[in-house]
Amino acid sequence: MSVIQSKINRHSESYRSNYEAMQQLVGELEKKKTEALFQGDEKYIARVKKSGRLLARERIELILDEDSPFMELLPFAGWGTDGFGTGGTIVVGIGFVSGKMCVINSNVGTIKGGAVDYATLQKGLRIGEIALENELPVINMVESAGANLPDQAKIFNYGGANFREITRRSQKKIPTISIVFGNSTAGGAYIPGMSDYVIMVKNEAKVFLAGPPLVKMATNEVTDEESLGGAKMHSTLSGVADYMAEDEKHALRLAREIMSYLKTKDTDYEEDDVKEPVYVSEEILGIVSADVRVPFDQRELIARIVDGSEFSEFKPLYGSTLITGYARINGYRIGIIANNGVLFSEAANKGAQFIQLCNQNDTPLLFLQNITGFMVGRKYEEEGIIKHGAKMINAVSNSTVPAITIITGASYGAGNYAMCGRAYKPRFLFTYPNSKIAVMGPDQLAGVMQIIGRAAAEKAGTAYDEEQGKQVAQYMVKEAEKQSNAWYASGQLWDDGVIDPRETRNYLKMCMDVIHRTEVKGAEGFGVFRM
Ligand code: COA
Repeated sequence: MSVIQSKINRHSESYRSNYEAMQQLVGELEKKKTEALFQGDEKYIARVKKSGRLLARERIELILDEDSPFMELLPFAGWGTDGFGTGGTIVVGIGFVSGKMCVINSNVGTIKGGAVDYATLQKGLRIGEIALENELPVINMVESAGANLPDQAKIFNYGGANFREITRRSQKKIPTISIVFGNSTAGGAYIPGMSDYVIMVKNEAKVFLAGPPLVKMATNEVTDEESLGGAKMHSTLSGVADYMAEDEKHALRLAREIMSYLKTKDTDYEEDDVKEPVYVSEEILGIVSADVRVPFDQRELIARIVDGSEFSEFKPLYGSTLITGYARINGYRIGIIANNGVLFSEAANKGAQFIQLCNQNDTPLLFLQNITGFMVGRKYEEEGIIKHGAKMINAVSNSTVPAITIITGASYGAGNYAMCGRAYKPRFLFTYPNSKIAVMGPDQLAGVMQIIGRAAAEKAGTAYDEEQGKQVAQYMVKEAEKQSNAWYASGQLWDDGVIDPRETRNYLKMCMDVIHRTEVKGAEGFGVFRM
């Protein structure tokens, strides 16, 4: 291999004139770069600063890893056009968040309220293309007045592609996290609406199809922005938000936390030093109720089985009878689904959503069962508890990531199915010695049989023998109790063993090693979800 011998003459006229011309062009580039840093009129910037909020570029700086580069892309989009100026109203680029490479797209709310002009639309579509082609997760920092209304005709049709692309990436297991810092109205509401993970900032996010004035015009309803589309409403009622942040910095921390649990193409690193839980396993014995009718907070159990007792809870304010979230066990990522009460429709939907996310993210699942079943009653039937429960059962049935189930208390009714009971083929299923597996509790079972007996007698026009009914009921309670306890279940091979609750983490550590011997790969699709 030979080294090229350069023949340039640094003293030649052509060299000197090239050099000067290029120097001038580079100067122009620097000028334009500075122009592109424009973040809006001073009055809007001052307003942001006064309120203690962050500017678009500050948000990027804070979300990136300390030593991360930021390769800004398309900074000159819109230059020389009659739009909102060089760079439009988004700052986009590629950097590292929690060690993982991703695309960041930050709305500049201080230029025209972050409204989207034609160049910004094109820029957004191009960065989406880059994310798709290179399989990069996307973090959207949302604060936008939506389409540039005077120019809406040019924007409206192609604008829809932005929403299409979020869900197409999702289908290809490339997640999008949206952090809503401000306005995200009308079509813009579908940015969080289509995203895989949504964080909204308390008292700042405004996400609705129409703001209060338009609602008044359309339906005469008088309402305010906060109740119509604030972070609290979306986190507790609509479920559009998965996380509610106390302020902007908390929102950025939450996004970094989510990123740390995402599997990405090149950087699925496991922690080198596995942290032990900060609480001792002995305490599990005092936490789990020996009597399955007495509830206990499964978070207390989670705190004693996962690495460092660290748990990133998903949708903590929604469907609160089901706990969902990410953690690590022996360094491996795991999605945990734990019952904290009866399953209502919201909880079932949340479970179905989280199972889909774990499949998108190739993350194994741990089910901690303590479930008396789905909520019953007229109100719940009317709101479609069956179809909502069916969504969760659909998700569990078609999920292809390995699952481990531990029955920590009751395992009754279709709750057993939705929470990956034996028939749903978890890789391992262990029970605690206090656990009960049955179609329902013994007293309920006997009571139902008595009601049926009375009704049958009435229909036949005969008298119901109360004394005999009572005896039969007592017998049934005894039988059901016998057939639903942990020893009976284990005898029937309904589990892979009854375990000492204090040993849970040790079992899980071993199971995690076992399940990672084969590729952990989430489902490519699910059955049709009933809506
Ligand atoms: N299209 C074009 N320009 C817009 C715009 C839009 N959708 N929304 C706001 N602007 C402009 C304003 O004209 C103003 O321009 P200026 O700086 O030249 O004066 C600037 O953005 C700031 O707007 P302003 O209303 O003063 O700021 P704000 O911080 O008080 O409120 C919003 C921001 C986003 C809450 C408010 O502007 C708003 O509600 N906009 C309309 C949102 C909407 O309904 N969009 C429909 C999208 S399909």
